[in-house]
Amino acid sequence: MDRAALLGLSRLCALWAAVLALFPCGAQGNWMWLGIASFGVPEKLGCANLPLNSRQKELCKRKPYLLPSIREGARLGIQECRSQFRHERWNCLVAAASPPGTSPLFGYELNSGTKETAFIYAVMAAGLVHSVTRSCSAGNMTECSCDTTLQNGGSASEGWHWGGCSDDVQYGMSFSRKFLDFPIRNTTAKESKVLLAMNLHNNEAGRQAVAKLMSLDCRCHGVSGSCAVKTCWKTMSSFEKIGHLLKDKYENSVQISDKIKRKMHRREKDQRKIPIRKDDLLYVNKSPNYCVEDKKLGIPGTQGRECNRTSEGADGCNLLCCGRGYNTHVVRHVERCECKFIWCCYVRCRRCESMTDVHTCK
Ligand SMILES: *[C@@H]1O[C@H](CO)[C@@H](O)[C@H](O)[C@H]1NC(C)=O
Ligand SMILES: *[C@@H]1O[C@H](CO)[C@@H](O)[C@H](O)[C@H]1NC(C)=O
Ligand SMILES: *[C@@H]1O[C@H](CO)[C@@H](O)[C@H](O)[C@H]1NC(C)=O
Repeated sequence: MDRAALLGLSRLCALWAAVLALFPCGAQGNWMWLGIASFGVPEKLGCANLPLNSRQKELCKRKPYLLPSIREGARLGIQECRSQFRHERWNCLVAAASPPGTSPLFGYELNSGTKETAFIYAVMAAGLVHSVTRSCSAGNMTECSCDTTLQNGGSASEGWHWGGCSDDVQYGMSFSRKFLDFPIRNTTAKESKVLLAMNLHNNEAGRQAVAKLMSLDCRCHGVSGSCAVKTCWKTMSSFEKIGHLLKDKYENSVQISDKIKRKMHRREKDQRKIPIRKDDLLYVNKSPNYCVEDKKLGIPGTQGRECNRTSEGADGCNLLCCGRGYNTHVVRHVERCECKFIWCCYVRCRRCESMTDVHTCK
């Protein structure tokens, strides 16, 4: 590792240490693992030096070979969050300097109890399921592999049998639970108790999304593709598809009461009877509008964001700029165009210029 990288790393570690001091061993320590995504080769650092809480360090020591998957899981989750929200006011990015005591990756949103918090927890837990399960199927683990319960059987009458490698999503889910879910501690503060319960629920909702989108892949055998016999296996959907489902859950997320007795219930009194499903995303607090910069919360605001003048949706200048209006810049593109192949042997092109309008929020 070169000096600059080492320096960056030691700064990062100092930051984590400072943050750790603010939240000693609390459940807030839960999110520290997200920092793993920014480490180059975590397995070279050893478990003790990674941004993990004590329980996770313990797990890491026992199973260090899982580190690459943990890092990949964090990367998947973060990337999908940014992709799903790239056109929205909250775009899963925090201000350049996130406030002290908050996560440098998600800032205020990680502990705010909003719909955005719900999405972050769900997508990160799902990312971990996905990457660990992938790694099992790839044969990179000793303690898991393909789903062995599906190796025999099938349906002879329908002309197919289980074969190939079915993704063992149950292993991934159980690992994600062990790594992320903390038992609700004996906390007296009502506020933090309901937030903890909410976060745990949303972790599980994320894992359920991966399980729900398992699909069946089959390959045909038989005389010249007659498909008389098929071999089938279960496979996880792409993480993008899982992200879409979670975005949908986010848009239909359920507000719960901030008073928690034996279990959580809906905030709306006339809806209390409707049960909360385990794949629902739950939130406690209303979100801010994310329109203007708030340095204290690490909200960057939408000033300077590119918007679409003709769209009626969230990416439209009207909504994205919160009614402040927008600036228009003309951007010149130069491309090679009208290319002709000249015998023999080169290509001659013209230079074409085009102008496009780019709009950014005031
Ligand atoms: C499996 O391990 C190999 C070699 O360490 C690595 O290149 C590959 O990315 C891993 N695959 C998965 C899905 O983890
Ligand atoms: C939790 O708190 C209650 C009362 O505050 C106490 O009686 C109980 O022993 C505590 N349980 C644990 C596991 O700390
Ligand atoms: C802007 O929005 C319109 C309408 O939704 C869409 O057809 C168009 O492709 C968008 N333009 C860009 C640059 O995304």
